[in-house]
Amino acid sequence: MKLYYNPASPYVRKVRVLAMETGLMGRIELAKVTITPTGPDAALCADNPIGKIPTLVLDDGNVLYDSRVICEYLDGLHAGAHLIPDDGDARWTALRRQALADGILDSAVNTRYETFLRPQALRWADWVDNQMAKVRRGLDALESEPLGDGVDIGTISVACALGYLDFRYSDEGWRDSRPKLAAWFEKFAQRPSMSETSPD
Ligand code: BEZ
Repeated sequence: MKLYYNPASPYVRKVRVLAMETGLMGRIELAKVTITPTGPDAALCADNPIGKIPTLVLDDGNVLYDSRVICEYLDGLHAGAHLIPDDGDARWTALRRQALADGILDSAVNTRYETFLRPQALRWADWVDNQMAKVRRGLDALESEPLGDGVDIGTISVACALGYLDFRYSDEGWRDSRPKLAAWFEKFAQRPSMSETSPD
């Protein structure tokens, strides 16, 4: 399988962490692409009309995207315990946490594009404020989550979102008012799957 990736992408990181945690990384070849909202990659667009990463090309030529679909596919390929729980409270808690973490990421990544790439004269301060309010409310909600010691798609997604904030928003100081989340992340970030996929 071929995974279009960039080390800066937290959505790709979710896929790579899940692949490492499930022992599947050896079956995945990494194809690095550098894309921006105004700079697509031709080879990637030929495989995924939306032109986004992660995109996974399967051995039979079929193509999967986005990160949620790829994670679900990979989770069906290994013999261990599923990282997307099959049913019950565990499933809905993990999927809700993934949605919360991905929502934080969507706002953080969009704000990064707005404040870093968009021409100064075209920037929209109210929009940025609202996006960052979503990030902060999401983090406050995570502070109340009993994330525990488990590894599943929920905790992987949360860890990748926090890693992205450290990477692109080091001045945000998200730990200052969220000590439980900070302590949880300090431990989770020590997993080899996290340290080997760090964007730094
Ligand atoms: C970034 O450079 O911040 C970035 C790269 C790829 C996807 C999302 C964010």
